[in-house]
Amino acid sequence: MTTTTTTPPATATAPPPAVVRLRKVTKEYAGGVRALDGIDLHVERGELLAIAGPSGSGKSTLLHIVGTLDQPTTGSVEIAGHDVAALADRRLSALRARHIGFVFQAFHLVPGVGALENVAEGLLYSGLPRARRRELAADALARVGLADRMKHRPHELSGGQKQRVAIARAVVGEPDLLLADEPTGALDSKSGETVMELLRDLNAQGTTIAVITHDTQIAQGLPRQVRIRDGRIAADTALGKVAA
Ligand SMILES: Nc1ncnc2c1ncn2[C@@H]1O[C@H](COP(=O)(O)OP(=O)(O)OP(=O)(O)O)[C@@H](O)[C@H]1O
Ligand SMILES: [Mg+2]
Repeated sequence: MTTTTTTPPATATAPPPAVVRLRKVTKEYAGGVRALDGIDLHVERGELLAIAGPSGSGKSTLLHIVGTLDQPTTGSVEIAGHDVAALADRRLSALRARHIGFVFQAFHLVPGVGALENVAEGLLYSGLPRARRRELAADALARVGLADRMKHRPHELSGGQKQRVAIARAVVGEPDLLLADEPTGALDSKSGETVMELLRDLNAQGTTIAVITHDTQIAQGLPRQVRIRDGRIAADTALGKVAA
């Protein structure tokens, strides 16, 4: 008699924790604005999702909380299996440095400093020696197609190139999660497309990415769309929850 079994072998390890796990998150700002109102959000390793919604709906607030730059008023936040509320400031900074990369609309590059130095800054808290940081920064710049712009300072780069430097800085430490808040917001449509292509490539190589965007066309081009309205999740294609 043959038996079939679906029991995994004893050596199988537990699956890695979700990259992001928010439970019933609310955020109230001083003055009584309830920017987030009961957000449940899970992001698994390898996802590429859009967070879309109108101005003032709570997208940036959500990104700050997921990025551990801000704490929720109530609810819980776990990043790569770590309960953020349980961590003291220093351990929280370490978690952020190791697990999360940020990209913002306005680039936030260090002025007067070349692309290589800007990217190497992403490894400042890695404990790696300077020469190694520069080596990895050069690799990251090559990945974003800027191997020939290592010494260019921000004012010597186009908008799209600046954003590619910012993305290289965000991924040079190989974070579990890349958070991008309107990464194409300051770019013309062609540079915006190049940046989105780059994010897709990075995702194909394994980086988990959440992109905040106003642009419904960009959102619809991504595998998962989460739509925020008035601080709530109005739609999430991963849950089969579609916009009303
Ligand atoms: N530091 C703050 N103090 C008080 N209220 C705030 C603060 N930051 C944001 N808000 C309010 O919280 C709400 C959500 O703001 P948030 O910045 O998250 O919106 P958003 O979806 O990112 O909008 P946009 O698309 O315009 O960037 C808004 O009503 C805003 O006025
Ligand atoms: Mg915003």
